[in-house]
Amino acid sequence: MAGIQDKLKGFDLKKIKEKFSSLFLGSPDILGIDIGNYSVKVVWLKEEGGELKLKTWGHLPIEAKPDASPDERKQQTVNQLRAFLIQKNIPVKQAATAISGNSVIVRYVKFPLLTKNELRATLATEAEPFIPFDIKDVQLSFHILAEVMEEGQKKMETVLVASKKDMVQARVDVLEAVGLRPAIIDVDSFALEGVHERLDAVQGAGSTLYLNLGHSVTNLSIIEAGVTRVVRDIFISGNTFTKAVAKALQCDPAKAEEAKKGFGLMLDQEEKEKALAEGNRDALAVSQAVAGVVKDLVSEVHRSVDFYLSQGPERSVARIVLSGGTARMKNLAKYLTGELKVPVTVLNPLSFIQPPPDVPAEIQPALGVAVGLALRRAKDWV
Ligand SMILES: Nc1ncnc2c1ncn2[C@@H]1O[C@H](COP(=O)(O)OP(=O)(O)OP(=O)(O)O)[C@@H](O)[C@H]1O
Ligand SMILES: [Mg+2]
Repeated sequence: MAGIQDKLKGFDLKKIKEKFSSLFLGSPDILGIDIGNYSVKVVWLKEEGGELKLKTWGHLPIEAKPDASPDERKQQTVNQLRAFLIQKNIPVKQAATAISGNSVIVRYVKFPLLTKNELRATLATEAEPFIPFDIKDVQLSFHILAEVMEEGQKKMETVLVASKKDMVQARVDVLEAVGLRPAIIDVDSFALEGVHERLDAVQGAGSTLYLNLGHSVTNLSIIEAGVTRVVRDIFISGNTFTKAVAKALQCDPAKAEEAKKGFGLMLDQEEKEKALAEGNRDALAVSQAVAGVVKDLVSEVHRSVDFYLSQGPERSVARIVLSGGTARMKNLAKYLTGELKVPVTVLNPLSFIQPPPDVPAEIQPALGVAVGLALRRAKDWV
């Protein structure tokens, strides 16, 4: 079996092209598989007649109990994925997947001018001060963004990615268990870059901030002129909302989940008064609980935007795009537009495909990362 090192080629498209082009000859298809805590998303894109088509997609819920162990959850994921691949009769044998959250650190670092090979050779030593994990436990990758001048010296602006080996291995295990070869292990936020560059709606002046709102984590990234400049994971996400609702309604997680999805946020006074008049206390309580969590999320977004703006006078965030399952929260995009004073929209990662594929609107934003992963390959040759 090839080592993890060989499998962790993600996030750097140039590197992927160089390293994998020969490997893919004759078998260019790759499945994008986004393995989340709540659901697994599968996307297969194929070039047909000069255009990309969506061959297959899947949104597979992980029906593990809330107190399920990581192993039980992993087994559920494998079972779901295996059943799906068999049911759809998918012939593709290679997959791209991604990680995020506590197990991966992304740092933007300026190094003295070195060749790629020199940097590769000294990476662990050079990177150690920037990585809060034991360097032995992580897999390091890097991508050189640009040469910059700093204090009269030429330097290389570099993105460093340190991924915990056990997390990478957990992803590899799932893919191998269903008979797929893990060709690319990416980072959730970087996978969205590929989607971003295909969307007409986000082109134009200013940067785009992505919030990939999942169940256990929210991936925040800011893309400036096609390059991701800020990556940060925030631990306010779908599960945080569910917990707040469960507390407000004094109910179990399953009921809270249902209430969260059913009611969401109420925005205008009229809507609130109507709920009150109808005695719909649950709707009001849910909205209030959700609004409390959104406020915390908004302060985190402000922090990241302020950090980004502080890096240069020409920087601006022109729009925010929501993806992930929680992007479907009723009125969330509208509420955030008001709070953050920039247009906030919900991602349809398949909008560049014509004719529009038949994927329900409530599923589309959740497929963002999986589409980005599926594009990792398709993008090289379209
Ligand atoms: N209509 C809705 N309103 C509010 N929340 C929703 C709605 N539909 C789905 N969600 C929430 O979206 C979350 C799942 O999103 P997603 O599938 O993107 O997560 P995940 O990728 O599995 O999780 P993670 O990446 O954090 O491990 C759940 O918390 C779910 O309750
Ligand atoms: Mg996710």
